[in-house]
Amino acid sequence: MKHLLDIKDLSKTDLQQLFKQADSIKTQSKSDRRNRLSDRQVVCLFYENSTRTILSFQLAADGLGASVFNLPVKHSSIKKGESFEDTIQTIAAMAPDALIMRHPDNNAHQHIVDLLPNDVHLINAGDGQNQHPTQALLDLYTIRNHKPNFDALKVAIIGDIKHSRVANSLIDGLSTLGTTNIQVFGPDHLISEKHSNRKAPDMHTAVDQADVVVMLRIQKERFEQHESLNIDVWFSQYGLDQDKLSRAKKDALIMHPGPINRGIEISSEVADGPQSVILEQVKNGVLIRQAVLSLLLS
Ligand code: NCD
Repeated sequence: MKHLLDIKDLSKTDLQQLFKQADSIKTQSKSDRRNRLSDRQVVCLFYENSTRTILSFQLAADGLGASVFNLPVKHSSIKKGESFEDTIQTIAAMAPDALIMRHPDNNAHQHIVDLLPNDVHLINAGDGQNQHPTQALLDLYTIRNHKPNFDALKVAIIGDIKHSRVANSLIDGLSTLGTTNIQVFGPDHLISEKHSNRKAPDMHTAVDQADVVVMLRIQKERFEQHESLNIDVWFSQYGLDQDKLSRAKKDALIMHPGPINRGIEISSEVADGPQSVILEQVKNGVLIRQAVLSLLLS
């Protein structure tokens, strides 16, 4: 594997290998981990806001001994009119070992990957409404640690499906691992065409007997001008509370990629409850990104 741009590029064996890599990093001491990438340099270039993804990539790379450099888009020459392609070629000319990029445009990474020299690895930290492969990897790794039999899972994904690269990558990754019972639910206009065949008739049906319930944020910043919603009715129709959750399996995992909006897509009772693995997802984010970096850079 040279780059990580799309979760669909990974086979079932690739995914399992990454999980095993994460398992083995977990058992290593901090000092042993630091030897893995001690002479490597990694650049983070985020054209969109981020808390979890950027910080976990930085901590992941640093924890493996790599040096991490963050190019703050707001204070760079991008603000002086430099084109996207020129920025990428400039970074590439400095020869970092990896470029970790988030960009608001779908397929932005595919657009620039050929500008990179052979030894610069590109990692997609989210492109528009398209893909978020490392988020899917951490979601899948979290699920696998609780419920390893992917074939038998029922997974419900609820909320703003249309704008969610998280949903796209997760559905792709689950499908590769053998999960067929994946149901989505949200307002009709927020279910993308490609997932319409998975749409449940109502929230109860989606959540009923689910093993995993994934809640998504309303990604207002990605709405087109004609798209609107009534936020006051969102929680009652599409939000997860204890009552709706009672339909799922007793040991169902509650997931959310974050950032969460309490009382809109999920109640605090559920987000902080015993079935929630939201912070475990965050924790696994560092580990699985270390697995990705190890595999690409060592
Ligand atoms: C997600 C994203 O950026 O796509 N967040 C994340 O990476 N943890 C989901 C979101 O922003 O709602």
